[in-house]
Amino acid sequence: MPDRADTAATMLEVRDLHAFYGESHILHGVSLEVRRGEVVTLLGRNGAGKTTTLRAIMGMVGRRTGSIRFAGTELVGMAPHRVPRLGIGYVPEERGIFASLSTAENLMLPPVVREGGMSVEQIHTLFPNLRERGATQGTRLSGGEQQMLAIARILRTGAELILLDEPTEGLAPVIIDQIGVAVRRLKDRGFTIVLVEQNFRFAATIADRHYVMEEGHVVDMIPNDRLDASMDRLHARLGV
Ligand SMILES: Nc1ncnc2c1ncn2[C@@H]1O[C@H](COP(=O)(O)OP(=O)(O)OP(=O)(O)O)[C@@H](O)[C@H]1O
Ligand SMILES: [Mg+2]
Repeated sequence: MPDRADTAATMLEVRDLHAFYGESHILHGVSLEVRRGEVVTLLGRNGAGKTTTLRAIMGMVGRRTGSIRFAGTELVGMAPHRVPRLGIGYVPEERGIFASLSTAENLMLPPVVREGGMSVEQIHTLFPNLRERGATQGTRLSGGEQQMLAIARILRTGAELILLDEPTEGLAPVIIDQIGVAVRRLKDRGFTIVLVEQNFRFAATIADRHYVMEEGHVVDMIPNDRLDASMDRLHARLGV
């Protein structure tokens, strides 16, 4: 389990992050920070740079400048393959479930990189569907089951910071509720989570704070208990 000794400490600190894909300059000085044990969302319209921010943290963009410190270690300049080993897990929007492998095989696929990951038994307690569907081929899982599997397999690796890109996209409300329950349990276990969401009603049920992105910048930070009071501002930003 993640170490909860220094709960108030900053786990992730992003300062003046610029990211490029080839000649395209996508992030224009993003700054944000996430404390250990927090759930923080990135909100913003399509194309605002939310996914690029997660990919830049993982080192999966063409080029980046600025600073990304994880538990005090600078990630800018670090080879991408080293990033997961520090304890950062990325669950991409496209989920990446291998169609020809079973649920159980997909679950065991990512290597364990650090001590303290969840056991398969603990994962099955969190996501009982995955136990029932263990022998089922990846392609035959529902969208919700695929999303749960994509999250579940990162929990085995020992990651303590989880970057989750739009886990609720395209899912039915009842499944979204299940994902919300799971994310809350992960928070209770001490995981730190950065969640990209378009659905801020969902985000409001699990997050401590929200960063709002626009055109490659962070333009607002809203504590969750100020969300209701900030609704007009947020509607204007998100165009919803
Ligand atoms: N591989 C790429 N090469 C060039 N430009 C890209 C690439 N990926 C994304 N972009 C551009 O970067 C900008 C930010 O994209 P990004 O995917 O980060 O947005 P997003 O906030 O995640 O949007 P969405 O809500 O649609 O997922 C967009 O203008 C997009 O077209
Ligand atoms: Mg995206």
